Amino acid sequence: MANNILLIGFMGVGKGRLARELAARTGYFILDTDDLIESFENTKIKKIFKNEGESYFRNLEQKVGNWLELHVSNTIISTGGGFFAVENLDRIGTVVFLKSDFETILSEMLTHPNAKKRMKKRPLFQDPKQAEKLFNTRQPLYTAKANIIIDVAGRQTEDIANEITTNLNLATLSKI
Ligand code: S3P
Repeated sequence: MANNILLIGFMGVGKGRLARELAARTGYFILDTDDLIESFENTKIKKIFKNEGESYFRNLEQKVGNWLELHVSNTIISTGGGFFAVENLDRIGTVVFLKSDFETILSEMLTHPNAKKRMKKRPLFQDPKQAEKLFNTRQPLYTAKANIIIDVAGRQTEDIANEITTNLNLATLSKI
């Protein structure tokens, strides 16, 4: 298995933020599956959903999954909330499920300084009731795919990163 770490979990749980913290500490490279899709397609996720539909987007996630498995190592990979479903997830790297509860995710989403923009760019978070349903459906699926589960609700990024580096025995860069 390639030496990657995959962060999975629901929209807005803080996968990107944590990936940046982990990469800075360990010297690993960093990638985000949504960014890769936007680069491959030269289009925003929101537009892909609108113009091509969700199943087209899910195929792009699988394409990214195949590419990661073949070409990427020593990288912290933050993923879109539905990326956990790619068929080769376990061959890409160690899967870390960032677990929270829906109330915390929603309130962090709504109180974020860029709340409007963050909501707008997520087609599946337009209606909080629908998002909550999706959240409930997804929880056992994330759990089933995880090598480790980290409870992140209400915690600081630094504290979560400490738990992950310890748990996975990741060497951290010494501070100058
Ligand atoms: C999705 C999550 C989004 C993005 C797309 C679909 C999902 O990523 O991939 O809008 O199915 O949960 P984030 O988890 O980064 O918001």
